[in-house]
Amino acid sequence: MNISPSQYAIIFACLLCTIMVNIGTCSYSQRDKQALLNFKQGIIDPADVLSSWSTQQDCCQWRGVKCDNITSRVTQLNLPCSTILPTYLDEEDKSLCLTGSIYLSLLLVELEFLTHLNLRNNDFLAIQLDSVHSQTCYNLSVANPSHHCVNSSSLRYLDLSYNDNLAINSLQWLSHMSSLEYLYLNDIDLHKESNWLQLVTMLPSLSELDMSGCQLKDLSPSIQYANFTSLRYLSLSANDFHSELPKWLFNISCGISGIKLYSSSLNGQLPKALLNLQHLQVLDLEDNNFSGLIPDWLGKFEHLRYLALDLNKFSGSIPTSLGNLSFLTNLLVGHNKLSGIVSARNFAKLSKLKELDIYSSPPLTFDFESHWVPPFQLKRLVLTFSNPNLPVWLYTQRSIEQLDIYESSFKANGKFWNFVSRMAQVYLKDNSIDVNMSNVLLNSTFIYLSSNDLKGCLPRLSSNVAFLDISNNSLSGTISPFLCDHRMLNGKSNLQYLDISLNHLSGGLTNCWKNWKSLVHVNLGSNNLKGKIPPSMGLLSNLTSLHLHENELDGEIPLSLQNCHSLLIFNVRENNLSGNIPNWIPHDAKALQIRSNSFSGNIPVQICEMSSLIILDIADNTISGHIPTCLNNITALVFNNISYNKLTFFFPIDDSRYYIFEDSLELVTKGQISDYGMNLHFVSLIDMSSNNLSGTIPLQMFSLIGLFSLNMSHNKLTGQIPYEIGNMKNLESLDFSANQFSSEIPQSLSNLSFLSSLNLSYNNLTGKIPSGTQLQGFSALSYIGNHDLCGPPLTKICLQDGKAKDTKPIDEDEDESTFFSWFYIGIGSGFGTGFLGVICAIFLNRKLRHTYFNFLYDLKDRLCAMVDIRMSSFQ
Ligand SMILES: *[C@@H]1O[C@H](CO)[C@@H](O)[C@H](O)[C@H]1NC(C)=O
Ligand SMILES: *[C@@H]1O[C@H](CO)[C@@H](O)[C@H](O)[C@H]1NC(C)=O
Ligand SMILES: *[C@@H]1O[C@H](CO)[C@@H](O)[C@H](O)[C@H]1NC(C)=O
Ligand SMILES: *[C@@H]1O[C@H](CO)[C@@H](O)[C@H](O)[C@H]1NC(C)=O
Ligand SMILES: *[C@@H]1O[C@H](CO)[C@@H](O)[C@H](O)[C@H]1NC(C)=O
Ligand SMILES: *[C@@H]1O[C@H](CO)[C@@H](O)[C@H](O)[C@H]1NC(C)=O
Ligand SMILES: *[C@@H]1O[C@H](CO)[C@@H](O)[C@H](O)[C@H]1NC(C)=O
Ligand SMILES: *[C@@H]1O[C@H](CO)[C@@H](O)[C@H](O)[C@H]1NC(C)=O
Ligand SMILES: *[C@@H]1O[C@H](CO)[C@@H](O)[C@H](O)[C@H]1NC(C)=O
Ligand SMILES: *[C@@H]1O[C@H](CO)[C@@H](O)[C@H](O)[C@H]1NC(C)=O
Repeated sequence: MNISPSQYAIIFACLLCTIMVNIGTCSYSQRDKQALLNFKQGIIDPADVLSSWSTQQDCCQWRGVKCDNITSRVTQLNLPCSTILPTYLDEEDKSLCLTGSIYLSLLLVELEFLTHLNLRNNDFLAIQLDSVHSQTCYNLSVANPSHHCVNSSSLRYLDLSYNDNLAINSLQWLSHMSSLEYLYLNDIDLHKESNWLQLVTMLPSLSELDMSGCQLKDLSPSIQYANFTSLRYLSLSANDFHSELPKWLFNISCGISGIKLYSSSLNGQLPKALLNLQHLQVLDLEDNNFSGLIPDWLGKFEHLRYLALDLNKFSGSIPTSLGNLSFLTNLLVGHNKLSGIVSARNFAKLSKLKELDIYSSPPLTFDFESHWVPPFQLKRLVLTFSNPNLPVWLYTQRSIEQLDIYESSFKANGKFWNFVSRMAQVYLKDNSIDVNMSNVLLNSTFIYLSSNDLKGCLPRLSSNVAFLDISNNSLSGTISPFLCDHRMLNGKSNLQYLDISLNHLSGGLTNCWKNWKSLVHVNLGSNNLKGKIPPSMGLLSNLTSLHLHENELDGEIPLSLQNCHSLLIFNVRENNLSGNIPNWIPHDAKALQIRSNSFSGNIPVQICEMSSLIILDIADNTISGHIPTCLNNITALVFNNISYNKLTFFFPIDDSRYYIFEDSLELVTKGQISDYGMNLHFVSLIDMSSNNLSGTIPLQMFSLIGLFSLNMSHNKLTGQIPYEIGNMKNLESLDFSANQFSSEIPQSLSNLSFLSSLNLSYNNLTGKIPSGTQLQGFSALSYIGNHDLCGPPLTKICLQDGKAKDTKPIDEDEDESTFFSWFYIGIGSGFGTGFLGVICAIFLNRKLRHTYFNFLYDLKDRLCAMVDIRMSSFQ
């Protein structure tokens, strides 16, 4: 009987394993177990995820551990953390994830057969690479001091991604992992490792590399060649390269099938050398600064499935060659500077296309025959068009889940509303849709119809609708049919977000809120609504933002609103409301804005219990009495933790995407009215101006050192401006004008280096304006109307004894009117424009959220143009 070599091999292997089972494994697997127990020492495990890691049990039975069936040696360690989508919180909740240190050297040296290590999405804070934690490693480094402690020839898969608080200063240890095929380091701070490219190219087996969001700065654009012989997928997105596409990219292993470099500040034109990468299936260059034409030769990537060039500065037309890419499922070229004609030729062979983004401003010209039937059935379509009618072929698309039409003007008839009612998400913001909505039934989950010319009454909603923004239109009539006729709701509404602000709605607020208990955000601002706030609003127990500003509401605020336990923002600015300042606002609230009403009485001390408050705007009422001495209990104004103050709301769309929304308020700072939207959390403000407050300002107020803007003007406040004002280092705007303060200006005021708006006019201040400081940089308007104040910038010269001497008394009387007109210009400019919050919709992959937030605020404009960061299409 012949025994083939492979049969020999099997027999040999069996013999070997018998031997190992009998003698070797026991002690070796004991060693693995000890290594894992040592690894556990470095971990803080709040949820007791590792409770099964007990000495009694076989380590192969421990959670996350996998062993080889035959040798019982540990081969895999999988301890990713799964977090749920936050809804109204700022940060993803990782309080149940593993934290502490990863003793990487221990794992990789002691667990000789470990092939797979996955610690994704935990909250580890450090990686330990030294020899102290590994006896073997220590022994080796004693013998050979140059020995590197992370030396694993078996590891093939390493995933440390989304440990967002982890920073790694050096990746040198990677170079000793000769078998590594999969490396995921997303969202780890690697900005100190400038040599990352050289180090990863030393990994001869590397097949997938993801270093997105690692704060990398250098893409080594001039390096000619990078030795990635086995690389198939490369993602370096969401870094900060500020360079052209690097030369080495075009020479990367020719088998590469996916490249993702979105949101990485890349620029220049697309070089033809890219054609070397013939097997590309995914090319994602979204959200960079690329310019030039979209090259014709992109049509030669015959395997291409996913092409994202949107949010760049490409010009010219969409090449018709792209219409040959018969495998293409996603074609995203929107938000560039494209021009020209789009016709059937652009889509000739795109039968698999599911997602198309051809948004352009100004719009592209469509030239489709009226009977053209596209070869595709889209799921998502983003477009603008200059033609007056909707393209006829749109109605052939029966699978659209998301339709975005911008900056176009078209007739939206009954057929159109029937067509969109099947879609889950409909974005028709900033079009000129001029249609009567009275008989329209909306049925989509997310509906964005703001800034159109919609007329008639409010539309009706089905129970599917969760998000409706129909603000800034010309809708009229009362809101009661909309809220009270709930026949279409089948007993249950899912509406969470309702914005009908900036319309011409009239009548009362109705008492029908019991039908809408799921509401989280309500904005009825800038309409002509009258009457009282109905008690049934108190049934909205999930409400976090209530905006009723700029209406004609009167009466007192009903006590039932104290059942809105989740309220964070309460805005009734510019109505005729009266009574006392509500003293029941939840302690977690962040903004209380009741300015320009007829509230009276004292400031309730309960205000001080609102320790998260960052906006306290009670200006322009008839509030009297003294300022409470407990304001320093509002810790948010003492510490001013900007990221904690974020007023961000997340509306989950599906498992991986959010609709993100930043609330906004109109505030008066630096003498003018501004809308604070995306940056509301940077503003911390107290505005008590234009009331009847008396007495002195309690010293406690000056310990609110997080405060950005303080306005106490136009009251009857007396006493001194204390020396302690110099502690309020974050102050940018300070207004104490038109009171009766009667001290000297403390020298410490000049410590406020951010102060850019100061008004101390019309008090009884005395003495010399501290000289040689920035306080001279303000104009005389900041100081006029204080008879005994002297020194520059005032024209009054100080005498030796500190008393003032008038030189030009006439000037100042004249200045009084100038001053008041300056003050009221500020107020006046707010009227008419009303409340137009910066509400930016962005979808983003939750995995990139953390990174994205870091530069979210720099990219305000672009984000308002709806950024859609899609999920990994590598799978
Ligand atoms: C090892 O055992 C597991 C479960 O008993 C089994 O699913 C797996 O196929 C085995 N692997 C090998 C290589 O025999
Ligand atoms: C390290 O060296 C010490 C002393 O030489 C020895 O007792 C120990 O067994 C060694 N450890 C390993 C894991 O080789
Ligand atoms: C890695 O370990 C192997 C055996 O454990 C050894 O032969 C090799 O020299 C080590 N490499 C480095 C760079 O330390
Ligand atoms: C690239 O790496 C492979 C495998 O590690 C090696 O054989 C080859 O010589 C390298 N090429 C260059 C140009 O460095
Ligand atoms: C690719 O690498 C080779 C060296 O291996 C170099 O000569 C060539 O210029 C490179 N090509 C590009 C397009 O950078
Ligand atoms: C984008 O490129 C243009 C020139 O094409 C340059 O002026 C601009 O500064 C670049 N912007 C960024 C953010 O890099
Ligand atoms: C309303 O939406 C639901 C769920 O999205 C869908 O099943 C239904 O067909 C839609 N109704 C109409 C009239 O389009
Ligand atoms: C309020 O929010 C909670 C948590 O998100 C949710 O479970 C509950 O159903 C909501 N209540 C209503 C009335 O929608
Ligand atoms: C302010 O805080 C102090 C100390 O935490 C507490 O004793 C006091 O009752 C608080 N005052 C108010 C009005 O909340
Ligand atoms: C402030 O000055 C005015 C006159 O300029 C005077 O009538 C008033 O009594 C003074 N008030 C205080 C509190 O000193």
